[in-house]
Order: sequence, then C-alpha cells, then structure tokens
Amino acid sequence: MPKRTVRDIAVQGKRVLVRVDFNVPYAPGTTRITDDSRIRAALPTLHFLLGQRARVVLCSHLGRPKGVQEELRLGPVATRLEELLGCRVKTASDCVGPEAESAVAHLSEGEVLLLENLRFHPEEEKNDPAFTRALAALADVYVNDAFGTAHRAHASTEGVAHYLPAVAGLLLQKEIEMLGEVLEDPARPLAALLGGAKVGDKMAVMESLVPRTDYLLVAGGMAAAFLKAQGKEVGKSLLEPGGPEMAGRIMKASKERGVKLRLPTDVVVAAELRADAEPSVVSVDHIPAAKMVLDIGPETRELFIGCLCLCRTIVWNGPVGVFEYPPFAEGTKAIAQALAGMAQRVATVVVGGGSTAEAVAELGLAEQMTHVSTGGGASLEFLEGKTLPGVAALLDK
Ligand code: 3PG
Repeated sequence: MPKRTVRDIAVQGKRVLVRVDFNVPYAPGTTRITDDSRIRAALPTLHFLLGQRARVVLCSHLGRPKGVQEELRLGPVATRLEELLGCRVKTASDCVGPEAESAVAHLSEGEVLLLENLRFHPEEEKNDPAFTRALAALADVYVNDAFGTAHRAHASTEGVAHYLPAVAGLLLQKEIEMLGEVLEDPARPLAALLGGAKVGDKMAVMESLVPRTDYLLVAGGMAAAFLKAQGKEVGKSLLEPGGPEMAGRIMKASKERGVKLRLPTDVVVAAELRADAEPSVVSVDHIPAAKMVLDIGPETRELFIGCLCLCRTIVWNGPVGVFEYPPFAEGTKAIAQALAGMAQRVATVVVGGGSTAEAVAELGLAEQMTHVSTGGGASLEFLEGKTLPGVAALLDK
C-alpha cells in the first residue's frame, strides 16, 4: 500500500474525521437495515481509533437524495453501529454548520459522533470548496475508510484531503491490497460477471473492462440493453437511454478482441416487480410485450456456471436477478453457490458491490469467497486500472 494509513499518524486526543461508506440497504419502504456488512467492515478502523483515544467524527452518504429526505437519515445506522461497537454513538442533525460544530466541540476522547447524511447538501457531490472547508474545520486529521465511495471525487472523499493530513483507514487498505492482487497478475482465464442495477455506471465501466477479461458475462439490469442491441424485444424491461447503443459497442469490441461475451439465453419474466408476481421462464427470443426480465433462467444459469468453471479468476459484480424478491432470486442463488465452491477449490473469486455482497451474506456464503469487497463501482473502476480519486488524494508513504 503506497499510501499512509491510520497507523502512520498520531491521532491520540485528536478530532479525526472518518469518511465511511454506510450506504447500507434498507428494506423497501422501511428503515430496517437488511445488510450491515459495510458497518461491520468499518469496525477495525473504529476500534483502532478508539483504542488511541481519538475523538471520532464519522461521516457518510446514504442513497442518492435530492435535498433532505427523511427516509435517508442515518439514525438507524447509528443505532446499529452502537450495537456493534458496544458504546454510545452520538448523532448530529447535519454534517456541517453550528449543530455539527457544537456536537464535535462536546466530543470527548474515545467518543464517537455520526454526522447526518452528507448528500443532503448538493455541495458534497460537487466537491464544493466552501462545503469542503466547513467539513475540514471539524477535524485535525482525515481518514478515508470509504472504499465503496473512493471512485467519487466528492467533498468528503477527495476535497477534504487537501485541507487536513489525510490517511487511509484499515478497510481501505485491505481492499486496495486484496484487489491489487487481482489487478496486478490475475491467473487466467479471467471472467467478469456483471449484473445488478446502476446500469449507466456499469456499462461505461464494462467498455474499459473488455481488454482485461477473457470472459464477459452479462445479466441483471444490463441484459435488456444487450438483448435489444441483438434486435430482440424486451417487453416492459427498463432500458436506459443510449443503453442498447452502448451495448452494441461493447459487443463489437468484445468480438474484435476475442473476448467471449455471454448473454442470457432464457430469462425469468413477470408482469410486475412484486414478491407475489407470477414468474415464468421464456427464451430471450420470446419475451412477451407485457412482461419484464427479472432474472436469468435455468439454461442461462448452466451456461454461465459452465463458463465460470473454466476460469481461474472471477470478478462478480451485481446480482443476476432481483434477488430481494423470492420469485427472482434463483439465478443469483445458483451463481453464488457455484462461485463459493469454485473459490474453495480452483479459483480466486472477488465479489463486489453493495447488493452482491448483501446477496452473498444472506446466503451465508461470504466466508467462502476469496474476497467480498464493500465497493461496487469502486471495485470495478479499480480493476479497470483507474486511479480512484479518494485514494490518490491521501498522503504517500
Ligand atoms: C455504492 O453503493 O456503490 C457506494 O456507496 C457509492 O454510492 P453512489 O454510487 O451513489 O455514489
């Protein structure tokens, strides 16, 4: 790790601003956390800082709010963190301004404060200098432990590092070291299996992943764009503007480079995305106009697992179906089980992405994978070979 870490800086008694990625999933329509892996993943750094008697000021985003959204407050996260840490976690109703300042001023050594959702301020994503300075004014030292957000050049992930001595947290360090091994010299063949939502983000990443992979397997929200690009009808499946065109370019680039691109041959469809929806399996050549694609079918599961079996390094990012709903969870389950087996025997399996990590944790398979990253987009961009702004801004060793 070429960057300084929290172990390389004096923190005792200091106000330490720690950027964490507590962007955890809430059950639809509730504030019940369905996967607390990202909170658990921050614990080593927090234990270290508390052991040093630092004054720990945590900040994070949650979701993609437009202004203040009550359902995206971090209160439930603070409660869960309290349970995991076994000590009180104070909260503030904003992340900058008088309330945040006063909360920090009242923080004693060895205490923890969680500021409110950074993205309630649009200035956070704009990396606005005044907002950045207001955040920096809350602390003496900055620690970035938010690997999942390190690909964003936001005020709390990049900007603030220019105003305070800035070092990596222990999670960030671990992620960079684990993923670095896959990036440097992966055992071949290497497969990338991409699914999930955030289609726009992932398609862009996929274009630059093509030259690095031997197999590219596409499922989840992106599959419809690829099927459309093949001239197939995709019914009511969501298509992002420009998606099929981008998919067409990726298909062409894969062909030119000899990358084996695999798309679903059969899919699970339903008229609506609901837990009690009536699923059916259809060939990708016969997707009904009134239905949408919500999972891969059994034939595709076999096809994908067959390809993955041939590979020695596998990067999986994004569930292959909407696994949160039981009728559309079978594909993700089958892939996760197969990959867990491969990771135990023959392959390096790196799982990335909030919802992929959630699926793997729910199935009790996280321990069996080589590495489950807390980053989705961040792990993909890292594996593309890109410099992550949140890492680049930290002090060199
Ligand atoms: C993630 O879930 O991938 C990270 O928390 C980053 O979230 P974002 O894609 O909304 O920036």
